[in-house]
Amino acid sequence: MSSGEESAWAQHYGPWAVIAGGSEGVGAEFALLLARAGINLVLIARKPEPLRATADRCRELGVQARELALDLSRSAGVEQIIEATTDLEVGLLIYNAGANTHSAEFLDGDLAAFQRVIDLNVTTPLALIHHFGSPMRERRRGGVMLVGSLTGYLGSARHTVYGGVKAFTRIYAEGLWVELRDYDVHVLELVLGVTRTPAMQRVGLNFEVPGLQVSDPADVAREGLDRLPHGPVHVIATHADNPALHAGHDRAEAVLASHRMMQKLLRDAPAARGTDAPPVD
Ligand SMILES: NC(=O)c1ccc[n+]([C@@H]2O[C@H](COP(=O)([O-])OP(=O)(O)OC[C@H]3O[C@@H](n4cnc5c(N)ncnc54)[C@H](OP(=O)(O)O)[C@@H]3O)[C@@H](O)[C@H]2O)c1
Repeated sequence: MSSGEESAWAQHYGPWAVIAGGSEGVGAEFALLLARAGINLVLIARKPEPLRATADRCRELGVQARELALDLSRSAGVEQIIEATTDLEVGLLIYNAGANTHSAEFLDGDLAAFQRVIDLNVTTPLALIHHFGSPMRERRRGGVMLVGSLTGYLGSARHTVYGGVKAFTRIYAEGLWVELRDYDVHVLELVLGVTRTPAMQRVGLNFEVPGLQVSDPADVAREGLDRLPHGPVHVIATHADNPALHAGHDRAEAVLASHRMMQKLLRDAPAARGTDAPPVD
């Protein structure tokens, strides 16, 4: 990263950034890049230990870091975040948390658990953007990044609700981008394909499926911040040829081809066959 880029990020997105899902994987890599640029951080996640570890690494780079250990799928989380940031000027909101938490087939699943997928991916980010976006618009600078998924382009078994919320945030981001572009507030839906995050590694996904493209979290974070001024949507380059993106004319054929790939991907991941498995994108 050049010092010119660092100072451009600090000027446009500083002095504080909030990263929802900022302890591990892509979220932690965003935090480290922003810390190197001199931007202070509010990091949010459920597990306190990885949160502390990432916050400490950011502090070692010379910035302030606040840790908020809470569950973003619960409505109380939004109030806690607002309360913990009232004294801060937040110039960047990155909403990274959002892997699938209920991978049941729809009719066999639990509606309350599906609702938590919706709250984590829709209700909470909308509340946070509503809160942090207004001052950004007044200041005429800032950024909002939502981390999306290729699953939001094509329906797939056991990802009915997850795919739906990821499609929602992409369309939502496009509209928000139009609304804020004259105010120089950057809006981007960053679309990920399969990425080697700790969450996916814990599930034991079969990353070795022939032909499968797998991204590295550090590369994804770097590409995302580079593309943030160029919204509204960016698909990580490694996955730009994914059939889901080009499935215009025969949806049935496209959905079934994607379904066959997912079955291969899941074959060696027993945890992902349960009802509370993360996404396969
Ligand atoms: N990895 C992939 O292959 C892939 C593919 C396509 C799209 N994506 C998208 O990329 C994003 C990141 O995915 P990921 O694989 O890193 O998994 P993830 O489970 O979304 O975890 C990412 C971060 O969010 C935090 N988090 C997750 N759920 C949370 C909750 N309910 N409340 C507070 N914090 C929460 C995690 O820490 P804690 O667990 O400690 O809370 C972690 O810091 C998601 O939006 C996902 O949909 C990922």
